[in-house]
Parts: sequence; C-alpha cells; structure tokens
Amino acid sequence: MKMQVLNKKNMELEPELKLQDEPKQELKDEPKLLEYYKQTVEFYEHIADCYNLIYPDHIKESKRLFMELEQLFKEKGIRTALDAACGIGYDMSLLCEMDIEVSGIDISQSMVSKTISNFKNSYEISPIVKQLDVRLLTESIFDNKFDLVVFRGNTFSNILPNEIPLVLENLLSVVSDDGILLIDYRDGNEQILENKQFELRGLFCDKDKGQLLDSYYFITHSKKLNIPYNVEANVNLLLFNETKEKIKKKWSIKSHYVDPNIINNYLKKIGTPYQYVKNVEGLPYLRTIIITK
Ligand SMILES: C[S@@+](CC[C@H](N)C(=O)[O-])C[C@H]1O[C@@H](n2cnc3c(N)ncnc32)[C@H](O)[C@@H]1O
Repeated sequence: MKMQVLNKKNMELEPELKLQDEPKQELKDEPKLLEYYKQTVEFYEHIADCYNLIYPDHIKESKRLFMELEQLFKEKGIRTALDAACGIGYDMSLLCEMDIEVSGIDISQSMVSKTISNFKNSYEISPIVKQLDVRLLTESIFDNKFDLVVFRGNTFSNILPNEIPLVLENLLSVVSDDGILLIDYRDGNEQILENKQFELRGLFCDKDKGQLLDSYYFITHSKKLNIPYNVEANVNLLLFNETKEKIKKKWSIKSHYVDPNIINNYLKKIGTPYQYVKNVEGLPYLRTIIITK
C-alpha cells in the first residue's frame, strides 16, 4: 500500500491541480458560522489545492512524531483513529500505513474531497471522511468511538479561545475508554513574544520536473494574546519546463494565539491524565500533548 501524497515528487502540481482564485464549492449557507469561522473556511477552501506546496514539511514532522509514538500505539492496541481536522489526509495516511483504520472530519469541503480522492488513488480502501466543524462533533456522528483521536496542525488557532474547552470536550467524547487524544498547539505566549514575522514553509527545486517552489508566511502579530494575528500564506511556483509558467498566490487568515492556560486548566479540571511529548524537530513553540482516557 503506497500513498501518493507521501512522496516528495508528488509535491509537483499535478495537471488537474490548478491554483485557483475562487473556491470550487459554494460555501454552505451556515448562518451560525461566525465571521471568524467563515474566514477560516474560506482560507482552507482556497489553499486545499496547493496544501502540499504550503506545508511540504507537515508530513515529515508527523512521520517523526508517529514513529516516536508507535510503541505507545502498540501498547494501547490502537486500531481505529479519527483525524478531527484532517486537511488533505496526511496524518490519516501515516496512521493508515501503521495499519490503523482511519476516519476524518474537516470544516472545509475541499479538504474533505481531497482526502477522499487521495485515498481513492492510493489505497484500496475508502475511509469515512465528513465535512464537519469540530465544534459540532458528537458521539452520534460516527457509529463507534475511536482508539485514537488527533487534532493537530495548530488547528486550535482556528478556534475562538472561549470555545476551546467545548472542542476538547467534543474530541474526548469520541475517544474510546483507554483511548488516546493527541493534540498540538503553538504556545501563544512564546509566539507573541518572539514576534517572528517571516516563516519559510517550503523551498524546493526539482530539475527533472522543472519546478522551483518557495512558500512562506508573513505574520502580522498583534499586541495582546486575545487579539487575533494575521497570517499571509504565499506560494511562488516557477515552472521552468516548456510552459515557463509563473504562479504567485497569497491568501490571508486571521488566527488566534493559543493560550496554554486554557488547555491546561481544562485538562486539570476534568482530571484526565496528560503528558507533553518531547518536541520533535519542526515548528517553533509547538506543544504536543497526549491525553489518555
Ligand atoms: C493544518 S491543517 C491540519 C493538518 C492535518 N491533520 C494533516 O494531516 O495534514 C488544519 C485543518 O483544520 C481544518 N479546520 C479548521 N477549523 C476547523 C474546525 N472548526 N473544524 C474542523 N476542521 C477545522 C482546516 O480546514 C484544515 O484543513
């Protein structure tokens, strides 16, 4: 079983992968979606087609993390997993490679469609992947609970701070007894202090394919932890094959700093054991937490 999205060579723009100006799907008419969540959905709808160009290292970092956790997964007998913010299915694919039966949800329909088609092209299985806001995740959405639930990629920055406890509660509600919840977030205190305005996300040149790519974030920090900061994701792709095409794209999203106290206080309050995982190389101030039930 081999999955296409795992391969670096797959970071090339496939013919059908056109960087688009407009989202493919109409956004669902969801009157309850606040402005913050609307702009989150819009951002991810736009970037779904070039996710692997903006986040080429995500899969490497996930791979290192899952290798580190493999023994624990075995000890705990992890057989099923849910990625509650699955993106295009990177983490799901790695867990699938570990013979874990995977399912996914994502707030963006384009991400869901990408995950489904990636799995269709690469595996002989069709996982259940649903378009769903994690804030609406309940026990009744799936037939069974999961041995492992993951919510990674700093997705808590896409959740309003006062709704973080609700999201933690929802995530834990679908973890089976003796199961694991695996979350991560960037420590907002450190992030705001460092005030780092530029972050290189991807840089590669493939002579054979005739591609040169750079992708980066411009980050405009705010002065307070409770005020969202702005991330501008930039992608520049130069095709130096016959087409000589230049693709330059940027999209912006407002994100919230994640206040570690909100997460820690909630976990302390409910008394569920948790521990930090030694940070694998990768993103700065990333905290990864294993919560056992
Ligand atoms: C950085 S990605 C997560 C990485 C993903 N686990 C992977 O393996 O590539 C963040 C994802 O979270 C999704 N997302 C953001 N807010 C969400 C919400 N409220 N509910 C569910 N998904 C959400 C986005 O659409 C995006 O696909």
